[in-house]
Amino acid sequence: MVNKASRPTDPLIGHDAWNIQLDENGRLKHFLTVEGLSTELLVSILDTAESFANINAQSVKKVPLLRGKTIANLFFEASTRTRNTFELAAKRLSADVLNVNINASATSKGETLMDTLQNLQAMQCDMFVVRHNASGAAHYIANRVAPGISVINAGDGSHAHPTQAMLDMFTIRRNKGADFGRLRVAIIGDVLHSRVARSQIHALNILNTGNVRVIAPKTLVPAGIEDMGVELFHDMEAGLRDADVVIALRLQKERMQGALLPSEQEYYRMYGLTRERLRLAKPEAIVLHPGPINRGVEIESCVADGPQSVILEQVTNGISIRMAVMSMALGRDPGTVQSEKP
Ligand code: NCD
Repeated sequence: MVNKASRPTDPLIGHDAWNIQLDENGRLKHFLTVEGLSTELLVSILDTAESFANINAQSVKKVPLLRGKTIANLFFEASTRTRNTFELAAKRLSADVLNVNINASATSKGETLMDTLQNLQAMQCDMFVVRHNASGAAHYIANRVAPGISVINAGDGSHAHPTQAMLDMFTIRRNKGADFGRLRVAIIGDVLHSRVARSQIHALNILNTGNVRVIAPKTLVPAGIEDMGVELFHDMEAGLRDADVVIALRLQKERMQGALLPSEQEYYRMYGLTRERLRLAKPEAIVLHPGPINRGVEIESCVADGPQSVILEQVTNGISIRMAVMSMALGRDPGTVQSEKP
């Protein structure tokens, strides 16, 4: 499924992060990054999620695919949407779920990450869902766990957030159709610190999106962003013109060292997604945001809550995408699975 010769070195974590995520048959074993995966694999994640979306629309939202499997959620960083939708996804697949409360766990007594993981392995977990503030953390863990265990990256530092990118692709496909080649997608804001943007750019390119734009101040874009196959704009009005999909990003102040911005007010004045500016995009353009939203900083409330916003749809779609990735990584093809009887 992947051309081994073209495997790139990941600039952020220093080696090819994704070479361990496929098994010898090219199937997903871990899901650490979108980078380097084939178009076919991304499309099969989207198609699998579509079958789960049908189940999630029924009154009994449960299938027995992962019955008897144990999934541990390990969130070393704050999360609302990602952690809860991973938990719901696992439960809807009938897996048993452990939500490890890191603050109340032995991590706070000085236990190392690997010791914590070895203890969870001794509890016979089958999958670790990991969020960590260090770029490369999920990859580090995937390289060290027992062979039968799958690792899913729920966000590592500013590196990658592959399930978020896939739920965004799913939301775009459901609203705009499967031909990404026709689409102009504008990603606005703090790309420098955004693992979401990095994964989105890889996913959009793998799905052959017609035009991927990044709109950001000079201080909030990583060096060499144009080598990732995006068109860079520092002017919001020019970048938004005729966009089909507009993605706003949160200003990640917790990852900023030093003053990269004059002030939030100044940022909003230059890069806030206001109703007036949104008029420059196509009239039927959709607006995405991974959340959490800072209203009045990167987006105007009336846009976040307005008719073009699909922000809450993204949250719903996150469950189907996470069900798809978890079942695929644990080797369960949903096929024609039906939801359980009421
Ligand atoms: C994002 C994250 O944590 O990377 N949120 C999310 O997972 N829904 C984006 C952010 O924190 O701004």
